Amino acid sequence: MERLMTPTTTIKPLPFHVPMIEQEEISAVVEALQSGWISTGPKTKCFEEGFARFIGARHALAVSSGTAALHLSLDAIGLKEGNEVLVPTLTFTATAEVVTYFKAKPVLVDVDPLHFNLSLEDAEQKITPRTRAIIPVHFAGHPCSMDSIRELARARDLTVIEDAAHAIPAKYRGQNIGTLSPLTAFSFHAVKTLTTGEGGMVTTDDDSLADRVRIMRLHGMSRDGWKRYTAEGSWRYEISEAGYKYNLTDPQAAMGLVQLSKCEGMWRRRVEIAHKYDRALTQLDAYRTPEVALDVQHARHLYVVLIEPSVFRIHRDQVIEELRQRGIGVAVHFIPLHLQPYYQREWRYRAGDFPVAEEYFDRCISLPIYPRMTEEDTDRVIEGLEDIAAKFRR
Ligand SMILES: Cc1ncc(COP(=O)(O)O)c(C=O)c1O
Repeated sequence: MERLMTPTTTIKPLPFHVPMIEQEEISAVVEALQSGWISTGPKTKCFEEGFARFIGARHALAVSSGTAALHLSLDAIGLKEGNEVLVPTLTFTATAEVVTYFKAKPVLVDVDPLHFNLSLEDAEQKITPRTRAIIPVHFAGHPCSMDSIRELARARDLTVIEDAAHAIPAKYRGQNIGTLSPLTAFSFHAVKTLTTGEGGMVTTDDDSLADRVRIMRLHGMSRDGWKRYTAEGSWRYEISEAGYKYNLTDPQAAMGLVQLSKCEGMWRRRVEIAHKYDRALTQLDAYRTPEVALDVQHARHLYVVLIEPSVFRIHRDQVIEELRQRGIGVAVHFIPLHLQPYYQREWRYRAGDFPVAEEYFDRCISLPIYPRMTEEDTDRVIEGLEDIAAKFRR
């Protein structure tokens, strides 16, 4: 009892991420549950139509994850065993893993030292007669140089599939990400800028690619297979391919529709936070803040600072530990794929293969950036970084 009464100094944790789920989302999900349509149904169709309008794409196909969106995109272009696909080493494993589903090879590429998107020079050097596609990842929400990527793809006969898991809402030279390539894959995972808990979307302007994704996401069943339980639908269904089970559900879509309506507002708040971090951290010599090109709209999904090793006498890992001790949740995006055991074992990558990504990885810290953060929260992050920089100077 005595011990329980002893005052303790507990620090309130500031999580790395808290999704923006409000009463509106909760009510929409409850309503979807009450409607009786708890798998794919009319809400999913509505979400697809809303997303297609928002992006300005002809088709938007809802699926169960960003990984499924990437997988179905590769299937739609007819990726075959023995093909190669260019993927940046600085990404989540999903981007490369889906290539292996086809017994094809993920060919890793280094990143550029300014925005940490896939390096065009390195990509070009990695092209072989087996290269079939390139998957640029809009890292942290900063759009890739799509004009150069498209030019390279055209010249070398590659298909571009964009990994836009971080890129809602993002623009390249005034055009929405999701309208620039034959196929774009989005993720609605819990930490993303628009969430359905788990979920994803494929956008395309091509009717036949859209048809293939639509059929393959639901067991290879003929168009609108989900309608077989409706009054207007027919009980008769046809299996034209061996497909997958990658459909999104109506309660998820109901949540997605509300998130979509708030997307612009949530983005504005993340931009405010990013600008506040920029203003404060550029005053210090201890951190490098993210660069943003003039011709893009950055989605501000992640805010990654790089610590300046010449200023600190501790390593990045210890800076993270110090932030943790102050109750500030941070993350690392990403451990480059070529440093992971699977990619080393199976594809013979080694430490030292991609120097830009490695230097980045040695210095990067993703700070919390989400609309739920208060001014006090962002002050706390800034003060924590200032304090650590002062305390651990060389
Ligand atoms: C760059 C990138 N691509 C793909 C994915 C996969 O998305 P999902 O988790 O929705 O399958 C993620 C998820 O973290 C990601 O960060």
